[in-house]
Amino acid sequence: MTRKLLLDTDPGCDDAAAIAFALGCDAVDTVGVTTVAGNSTVENTTENAIAVLEALDRPDVPVAKGCDRPLVKELTLAEHVHGDGGLYGELTQSGTAVDAHAVDFIIDQARRHGDDLTIAAVGPLTNVAVAIAREPALPNLVDDIYVMGGAAFEAGNATPVAEFNIYNDPEAASRVTQAAEPKIVGLDATNDATLPYDTVRELHDRNPRLEHVAKWCEYAPEIPATAERRDRPSLHDPAVVAAVVDDVVAFERHYTQIDTSGGLCEGQVVCDEPEVTGNPPNADIAVDIDASGFRDRLLDAYSNL
Ligand code: RIB
Ligand code: CA
Repeated sequence: MTRKLLLDTDPGCDDAAAIAFALGCDAVDTVGVTTVAGNSTVENTTENAIAVLEALDRPDVPVAKGCDRPLVKELTLAEHVHGDGGLYGELTQSGTAVDAHAVDFIIDQARRHGDDLTIAAVGPLTNVAVAIAREPALPNLVDDIYVMGGAAFEAGNATPVAEFNIYNDPEAASRVTQAAEPKIVGLDATNDATLPYDTVRELHDRNPRLEHVAKWCEYAPEIPATAERRDRPSLHDPAVVAAVVDDVVAFERHYTQIDTSGGLCEGQVVCDEPEVTGNPPNADIAVDIDASGFRDRLLDAYSNL
């Protein structure tokens, strides 16, 4: 049975690369893309999602627009990483989002597909948290909720201890962690989800359709690059799709909390690895990735586009 996949996204270059990965992957049937504010405003992330699907000749995949800001904090954008408007590349879009709000779309798809459905949330967790508040049974309706977020045992990328998606809406991340026993795929795994630049250039040359995908995979070219960074852009969101469809990501179960104190460590994903709290594990935390296996899976899917 082909797995049904709903992507909750904030496109975002690596979100776009993840959408392309899902569409090219024969192991999943993408039932929809929901959008949330994060890398850019929700207006931009919605337009970008529609434009990405049209660029990949999949205007049939519904896009539902979601929350325009985090539950409590002000929105933190990342256009310095993903480009003005949230996405590098000149894309046009002709379609529109569906009438349903992303939260209602998520709940409807969960009720329709049940445990055939996996939700992969690769932006701030605002939509998923509100969906759980509206439908507390949501986590039990679907098979799994995967999250791109956190830096359990690695340094953060938004602060020294917090990763961007979780830092953007820590209250939403806390709500999802408490309610859904999520599979949290953070920088511990995604930092090594890389695609060397020469491979990206090969994509560029192999198939005109992949020209956009190559640009999305090469994102952040304007960031002053260290030698390390210029050779290997980390494809955080595609790593989550790989975790859904293959066993390239290793997980450990830990009792996990999100720091919502508003202090120095706000947005930190705190895992009780030493088991000192006495609390039972409540989340699966990604601790490693088979980078070669990830790359093979990704390129195989892109070759199907
Ligand atoms: O920290 C990486 C995450 O933040 C990715 O999902 C990227 O798209 C941004 O949203
Ligand atoms: Ca994202």
